[in-house]
Amino acid sequence: MDIHFDFSGRTALVTGAASGLGLAMANAFADAGASLVLFDMDAGGAAAAAEAINTRHPGRAIARAGSITDQAQVAAACRDAQALTGRLDIVMNNAGISGNASSLDLDEQTWRHAIDVNLTGAFLVAQAAGRIMADQGGGSIVNTASMYGVVTAPERAAYCAAKAGVVALTKVLAIEWADRNIRVNAIGPGYVRTALTETLIQQGRIDLDALHHRVPAGRLGTPEEIAQAALFLASDAAAYVTGQTLVADGGWSSYSYL
Ligand SMILES: NC(=O)c1ccc[n+]([C@@H]2O[C@H](COP(=O)([O-])OP(=O)(O)OC[C@H]3O[C@@H](n4cnc5c(N)ncnc54)[C@H](O)[C@@H]3O)[C@@H](O)[C@H]2O)c1
Repeated sequence: MDIHFDFSGRTALVTGAASGLGLAMANAFADAGASLVLFDMDAGGAAAAAEAINTRHPGRAIARAGSITDQAQVAAACRDAQALTGRLDIVMNNAGISGNASSLDLDEQTWRHAIDVNLTGAFLVAQAAGRIMADQGGGSIVNTASMYGVVTAPERAAYCAAKAGVVALTKVLAIEWADRNIRVNAIGPGYVRTALTETLIQQGRIDLDALHHRVPAGRLGTPEEIAQAALFLASDAAAYVTGQTLVADGGWSSYSYL
């Protein structure tokens, strides 16, 4: 992919950075010059990702283990990112889980967990970052929503409700913090081949052939494609863009399928 963003001298926090979209975002930011904190509840995965980045760009990445649902761990990760250069410029508020089930069978614990991670966790990260960014006079937050925050599908009640919440949260924070020079946007991926979708394929919840047929682009997206769209939102190229959800879905949500 021949795209050149320049984030030299900037610091980013990426949540869910051990795997999938977050890992691709972390790699893309590092390759574009940023210093990074890779935050993930998978301590080993985050450490391995940071080590791989530091092999290419010595001293650029540190890993922090924790959950986005833990306010103290989130605040500490934001402070650690700020300490790298004195500023926290960018947050990729990306960690999330699927938690799909038939709505008649969906148990309360699964519902609460999906909302807790995908929506409450996203708020806690944005709030902790927003406090630092307000003090320093600006920053950019990119939430990972989903095309399923904009359109819906069966057996995804908790996921769709949480991601629609992230789309709304993105707008509220954008208008609340615009006068602090903090931009808040969201990326809304369609189907992308990551560990998350792999699990759904293995559970028989995704039929890959049907999916390829359903997507106007005729294929799933790649994590790198989503990362580049997210980097655009974080970059100065999007300086007047705030409150938006950029749906990167190969045309899925535009296509009223018969
Ligand atoms: N893969 C897709 O097709 C797709 C489509 C739309 C949206 N998304 C969204 O993209 C984001 C990333 O998904 P992915 O496909 O890369 O998934 P993934 O499972 O590959 O990676 C998610 C990462 O988040 C981490 N994580 C999970 N819960 C966490 C928590 N409470 N605290 C900290 N880290 C946590 C996991 O350890 C993992 O490393 C999610 O928000 C997901 O909803 C994915």
